Amino acid sequence: MAHIQLILGLWLYTISPFSNHFLQHFPEAVHQRDFRFFGMEHSLMMIVAIVLITIGSAKAKRKATDSQKFKAMAVWYTIGLLIIVASIPWVFSPFTSRPNFRPLF
Ligand code: HEM
Repeated sequence: MAHIQLILGLWLYTISPFSNHFLQHFPEAVHQRDFRFFGMEHSLMMIVAIVLITIGSAKAKRKATDSQKFKAMAVWYTIGLLIIVASIPWVFSPFTSRPNFRPLF
């Protein structure tokens, strides 16, 4: 699931006006909250989180016993999940917020 989100995020990064503006006007955009968030902070932190989840999955597979496997997953997945939760533009986020629902018309 994390990897599907990664692919969708990377695809979104190539088409989003936020990331395009961020990359094309880096010196000014890096000081503007919305552009910095989607152009750098959100994307980078999500990639870090997904890398940690992938490492956790690989480590768990190599453990000998079930309890060692569960322990490895609990530690790595929890750290990854915390980073993901912290990097989502919640409606109450102090960095950049997005609405929970958008009216269709
Ligand atoms: C677990 C992983 C991820 C989650 C849960 C997540 C979640 C979100 C959410 C909730 C939004 C706001 C959508 C809205 O406007 O309502 C968003 C936007 C965005 N995400 Fe992610 N994301 C993830 C990974 C990534 C990755 C890996 C990238 C790029 C490398 C990325 C790039 C973007 C961009 C560029 C936008 C802004 C799109 C726009 O409004 O133009 N995301 N993401």
